[in-house]
Amino acid sequence: MANDVEKKTDRNLAMELVRVTEAAALAASHWIGKGQKNEADGAAVEGMRRAFDSVGIDGTVVIGEGEMDEAPMLYIGEKVGAGGPEMDIAVDPLEGTTLTAKAGPNALAVLALAEKGKFLHAPDVYMDKIAVGGGLPQGVVDLDAGVIENLRNLAKAKKCDISELTACVLDRDRHKEIIAKCREVGARVMLLSDGDVFGVMATTMPETGVDIYLGWGGAPEGVLAAAALRCVDGQMQGRLIYEDDTQMQRAIAMGLADPHQKLSITDMASGDVMFSATGVTGGTMLKGVRRMPHAAVTHSIVMRSKSGTVRFVEAFHNFDMKTWTPS
Ligand code: FBP
Repeated sequence: MANDVEKKTDRNLAMELVRVTEAAALAASHWIGKGQKNEADGAAVEGMRRAFDSVGIDGTVVIGEGEMDEAPMLYIGEKVGAGGPEMDIAVDPLEGTTLTAKAGPNALAVLALAEKGKFLHAPDVYMDKIAVGGGLPQGVVDLDAGVIENLRNLAKAKKCDISELTACVLDRDRHKEIIAKCREVGARVMLLSDGDVFGVMATTMPETGVDIYLGWGGAPEGVLAAAALRCVDGQMQGRLIYEDDTQMQRAIAMGLADPHQKLSITDMASGDVMFSATGVTGGTMLKGVRRMPHAAVTHSIVMRSKSGTVRFVEAFHNFDMKTWTPS
């Protein structure tokens, strides 16, 4: 009986989380293509923060908008929720602020939830990441192996030619070598201008055409992506990268005993995890917010690691046009 209640609570909670990412995406959608990334981000944060007020949890933000003195809302340590089970929360109300400002593809409102203590407390530094989708032999790729070796092993496991693999990489100078190595063996490279939570998640969705994610992106985004992959049996490893000693000391202070540790997916997100993302701008994984004079349509993905369920939710929202808030 207790299990039945727990199951129902989990399921309901997953749907409540969708409302939270929907609220952030709807708020950010006002700023799509307007060239004002900070305004877009601010709107998403406010929309998400407000939506949390009706979620039945006693939540603590562990991956958020920054430290309390840097961020007015959704800062690390902030308590959110209307009361209920104790949960840790990882958020990125607008993953892809520049994408939104430029109306580029795949900007997302993202959130993950786990029991207390199950997310890596990652400082805002870079993380070297490697990820592949589900259904592959454990350890098929490794952060410490070379790019070519990883591609060869992946092609073998997928029983395809290496030239048929697509690696997704952020389009940055720091990734020149990764890109060159991929091309040296004839693999395709999908270059992203921004948004590596999408890049990592894309490895799990055949319709995106992405087989592997490689390279450095934000560490908080790494934790969110790890939570998503936990729900679909994907594989991911990461390692934090420090620009100076202060950043490294910060990671240690946040609880990482070995700051150079190769982090497994469960080092980043363990236990039962729930994940929700809503498309802000459209892409191959999710449609973006479609705004109409008195309504909007959102498209979200919500997943639970416990059940392995992946749900796509298309929602029609009525609006009070003056405030652009769900009625
Ligand atoms: P924002 O949403 O904060 O603009 O971040 C977008 C992003 O592209 C992330 O997806 C990625 O992890 C990170 O920035 C990469 O950082 P950088 O632009 O410094 O390479």
